[in-house]
Amino acid sequence: MKILITGANGQLATSLIAHLAPLGSVVALTRQDFDLCHWEECFATLNKLQPDLIVNAAAYTAVDRAENERDLAFQINAIAPTRLAQYCHNNHCALIHYSTDYVFNGQKNTPYLEQDPTEPINIYGQSKRQGEIGILESNCAALIFRTSWVYSLVGHNFLKTMLKLGMERDELRIIDDQRGSPTSTESIARATALILSKKPTHLPIVDYLAQYRGIYHMTNQSDTTWYGFAQAIFALRPARAQLTAISTEQYPTPAKRPAMSCLDNSKLKQTFDITLPHWHDALIACLTQSS
Ligand SMILES: NC(=O)c1ccc[n+]([C@@H]2O[C@H](COP(=O)([O-])OP(=O)(O)OC[C@H]3O[C@@H](n4cnc5c(N)ncnc54)[C@H](OP(=O)(O)O)[C@@H]3O)[C@@H](O)[C@H]2O)c1
Repeated sequence: MKILITGANGQLATSLIAHLAPLGSVVALTRQDFDLCHWEECFATLNKLQPDLIVNAAAYTAVDRAENERDLAFQINAIAPTRLAQYCHNNHCALIHYSTDYVFNGQKNTPYLEQDPTEPINIYGQSKRQGEIGILESNCAALIFRTSWVYSLVGHNFLKTMLKLGMERDELRIIDDQRGSPTSTESIARATALILSKKPTHLPIVDYLAQYRGIYHMTNQSDTTWYGFAQAIFALRPARAQLTAISTEQYPTPAKRPAMSCLDNSKLKQTFDITLPHWHDALIACLTQSS
């Protein structure tokens, strides 16, 4: 099985490359070699490589900047994934794509189900939702995994920001009224590999994934606030900074964030018998791995 991973320098792609390698021949391409803004070149690369599975880990992820770069966000998060899906549909290729909790408005009191109505409240969320729609409408053999609050020790994320600022500052004011599930790239990549490894040997990957096409919620279990996440980080890696809990109102950002974006993972459990670890265990695993 030839697997193409896009966005190879990203935090999730880095974990995917490690976890998918045992499952086939992995070709991991960075933006430099596979730029989703240059579709003609991507199309030529796809025709040359002829992958059996595309794992699209490339994305425009700058949530605040997206408010001023709508076209670019839509180009990378909506138009390009739709084209990848159309390519897959026409070329007997399967697709795995990642989406976000930010497709929801955050007004629900219980974890969101896959079929709950979407209503993104920022441009990034809108662009990711449009990508989901384009993929679903292509009818290709695609699994879309919605995840949230993604971190690892690679790239840019909340964990790395806390580890850095925790050593530099005396005080950190962290939002305590947005709830979600911190999710490690390690957990997502492991679950993705496990799903692929359940393919019966006689079935081509495209036929295997076609049976399960659709959206799945994939996050570490349970939830917290950004403040709770920061507290957990500093309990494991003591820092100089004192933490102060603040409200969203006290920390205005260009993009609005949902107040509650926990995702119900039952469909993932029922379909593939997979449950990701509790978010706190995943955090311990991430920080232990680095020490
Ligand atoms: N980060 C989160 O908290 C979060 C939450 C929910 C869902 N997700 C989703 O999870 C997936 C993985 O995100 P991540 O956290 O791993 O993001 P990331 O670390 O920002 O990685 C994204 C990668 O995409 C690449 N990229 C950007 N524009 C591109 C283009 N035009 N062509 C090709 N590649 C391009 C980037 O390249 P450069 O390295 O060159 O910039 C980067 O390596 C995404 O679908 C994201 O929407 C993330």
